Amino acid sequence: MIKRSITTKLTIGFVLIIIISTLCIGIIGINIFRNNIFEMKEKNITLHAQKLESVLEPYIENGMDSKEYKDIVKGVSSFDNTKVWMINLKGEIRTIYENEDKVLKKNPDPQGVYSEIITSALGGKLKSMQGYNAYYDENMMSVAVPIVKGDKSIIGVIIVHSSTIDLSNSMNEFFIYLIAAVLGEVIIAGLLGFYFSKNITKPIKIINEAAMQMTEGNFKLKTNIYQKDEIGELSTSFDILSSRLEYNIRQQEKLEQMRKDFVANVSHEFRTPLTIIRGNLEGLYDGVIPMEEHHDNYYTLIKETKRLEVMVSDLLSLSKLESGKVELNLQKLDLKEILRDITRVLKPITKAKNIELELIDDGNLSPVWSDYDKLKQLLIIFIDNAIKFSHVNSKIKLAIILENINQKDTLSITITDYGIGISKEDIPFIGERFYKADKARKYSGNSTGLGISIAKHLIEILNCKLEIKSQINVGTQIKIEFLKFEDEIHL
Ligand SMILES: Nc1ncnc2c1ncn2[C@@H]1O[C@H](COP(=O)(O)OP(=O)(O)O)[C@@H](O)[C@H]1O
Ligand SMILES: [Mg+2]
Repeated sequence: MIKRSITTKLTIGFVLIIIISTLCIGIIGINIFRNNIFEMKEKNITLHAQKLESVLEPYIENGMDSKEYKDIVKGVSSFDNTKVWMINLKGEIRTIYENEDKVLKKNPDPQGVYSEIITSALGGKLKSMQGYNAYYDENMMSVAVPIVKGDKSIIGVIIVHSSTIDLSNSMNEFFIYLIAAVLGEVIIAGLLGFYFSKNITKPIKIINEAAMQMTEGNFKLKTNIYQKDEIGELSTSFDILSSRLEYNIRQQEKLEQMRKDFVANVSHEFRTPLTIIRGNLEGLYDGVIPMEEHHDNYYTLIKETKRLEVMVSDLLSLSKLESGKVELNLQKLDLKEILRDITRVLKPITKAKNIELELIDDGNLSPVWSDYDKLKQLLIIFIDNAIKFSHVNSKIKLAIILENINQKDTLSITITDYGIGISKEDIPFIGERFYKADKARKYSGNSTGLGISIAKHLIEILNCKLEIKSQINVGTQIKIEFLKFEDEIHL
């Protein structure tokens, strides 16, 4: 099957519409024109015949032999190219011919073509007809008028014939103009149709090309058509679609990469404790380890198992938070009380390192509207880090601060330690899963590098803001600000 492009279809359509409409208008025009010129001619001939009748009538009454009659006849015969037939009451056709009135040698109307208009004129009615006149071998228009005497009696008929060749010529000319107009219009319509349809199809081709490229995963090709019409809208939508798809696909690829990295990291993190556990167990089983060292082996086994346990529980927490299906149990909370609870929970580790947790507040603080367990989990992650990365015999400050910043009350908790601190280079990566700044693992022996990842999710769902300030070998300050706390506590 031949592919019919829109251009071809539109151009053909355009041309057809023009041809049909021009022909319709032309045919109507030609009919009106024809009727008009024939009517005009009929009027002229009738006038001519009536004049002739009024001039000739007195002479005809007195017999057609008078000198004056013959003179008039002479004049009339030289009067334009009409032919005049005189018909007497006997129905004989005579003609004004060669300066004379005489009976025609040959009967000019053997078929009685003119008998109808003659009869009608003899009855007093003027009548016309047109058609082929065999006598003159021409198409003619003929008008018959009665010759009426003074006392209203009819004494004969005058028929005036006039050739219609001039009318045919006019009609032919009209036809030529019509055809020329049609041809001209066809060319113009063809060109315009081609131009307009190219305008329509060009952007469609571009969009199609871009769509084809898209199916092959290439989203770079944009249509860049900025027309203010439906096609322009289509291509804009198309470009937006393409950008969104590209974004989604990149996002998916990124997620996929993250997933792969995550699996790799998890496997890696699990391998170390598992290897240690296996080594120790094999040593014990083979009996190569002396009795007095067994205690150390058991300790290592417990430590590494705990590490695995912490990792599994952190991973579970993280996956739960990332699934987005976390339900909040909001209630009015006293921050001071939470911090006191946490201090109690962490007592064993602070005691072991001889670290003092100092609680600071200005005594009169508004409560917050939050989730007790989640907030506690969040604070423990940071306080646990502060303890872990602090030196023995040091202090950690836990402060609840209500201050007015830019005429707005802000409430926050800061956790300040004087431990090893985090280097400038590491700060941006803190909170990435498994990221540990303490490469030597001097302090983070049982670290997972998942704590702050979990904290970041909690920060988000609890509607807080996190700020980490740290200086290596000086200490770290974590600030957790409660956003919109005012609205919420008034609930
Ligand atoms: N208070 C802190 N002082 C120094 N380094 C810290 C502190 N808090 C966190 N870090 C660094 O950030 C890393 C990530 O912390 P986190 O996500 O809690 O994992 P983890 O505690 O299991 O190591 C830690 O390993 C540590 O290097
Ligand atoms: Mg931690």
